[in-house]
Amino acid sequence: MSEIGKRKDDHLDLAARGDVGFHHTTTLFEAVRFVHDALPELSLDEIDTSQRVLGKTLRAPILIAGMTGGTERAAGINRQLAKLAQARGYAFGLGSQRAMYKDPSVAESYRVRDVAPDVLLLGNIGLVQAAQMQSDEVAALARSVAADALCLHLNPAQEAVQAGGDRDFRNGLSTIARLVSELALPLVVKETGCGISGSVARRLRAAGVRHLDVSGAGGTSWVAVETQRAQASRRGLGETFWEWGIPTAASVALAAGHGFDTVFATGGVSSGLDVAKAIALGAHAAGLARPVLQALEGGGETGVEDFFDRVEAELRTAMLLVGARDLAALRRAARVVGPELSLWLGQAGG
Ligand SMILES: Cc1cc2nc3c(=O)[nH]c(=O)nc-3n(C[C@H](O)[C@H](O)[C@H](O)COP(=O)(O)O)c2cc1C
Repeated sequence: MSEIGKRKDDHLDLAARGDVGFHHTTTLFEAVRFVHDALPELSLDEIDTSQRVLGKTLRAPILIAGMTGGTERAAGINRQLAKLAQARGYAFGLGSQRAMYKDPSVAESYRVRDVAPDVLLLGNIGLVQAAQMQSDEVAALARSVAADALCLHLNPAQEAVQAGGDRDFRNGLSTIARLVSELALPLVVKETGCGISGSVARRLRAAGVRHLDVSGAGGTSWVAVETQRAQASRRGLGETFWEWGIPTAASVALAAGHGFDTVFATGGVSSGLDVAKAIALGAHAAGLARPVLQALEGGGETGVEDFFDRVEAELRTAMLLVGARDLAALRRAARVVGPELSLWLGQAGG
């Protein structure tokens, strides 16, 4: 197996079973409390969770966020989850397509269109890799898997602590501006667990970016993943930065005011109540990565179905209890925001 393939398998094992979550940092979704409506005047059955995202209608505002590709095991995971996303009306993200760029023989592990013909499908490549590619090579990656849009992931914290990771992050914004103007398909700029600040959101909008996945802190820590992979003597740097990042709830709220067409709230989303809070803070859909992988590894397809049945029931219950018939009404729902989230919103700038 190639070096990238081994790394991908490591990532799956660590994400499924390892100690790779933030230890203290939370998403701050718990700092948002909806105001209960004791007279909702709604029936649970009439609640509509649908959301239009990137030209397609999701039945519920949920994205299975990009995780993998490049190995046989990854192929199985992509196909199982994409099929499920198709059946449930969710969006589905592929993991980084760097492996297939380096070795076209593994392209098959990213092909899911035959089992997910209508799904909102997101391709994926890192900014650092895309900076070294021609725009038509980047476009070809997305085209070859029939993606509707391409996620461009930003992961400077992960790279900085990864042995042999990238260390040069210059010209990032100019690469993004080039891709926005030269790619025919939409670009989703995405973090990977450290969040997007208000100021980064503003610079991305100014560069023409219209779709964002904040992937904030509070769920999977990619610094933690790389720290676990590092040799003991090299773990100090990662341990210091384990908690690094902008909590997801803060990142969504900071990014939401900048006029993006799409904001995905990924990072530590673990319940339908979190999804509801993400929507109320300005997201169009919530993304989930590690909890989905854990449900799949723990209980197979039934495990994932059960997990998402619960998430959807929680979302609908939250909507009922704030009197929101649809997601537009949920966005206007009364809420109380706790002190730590208020501090982020007041001081983080933007
Ligand atoms: C096993 C695994 C592999 C991942 N690989 C990628 C990737 O290739 N590209 C990417 O943009 N994000 C990747 N991510 C990051 C997720 O898309 C997401 O941003 C992050 O894990 C936070 O979400 P979570 O807390 O729900 O896991 C990966 C996540 C996991 C768990």
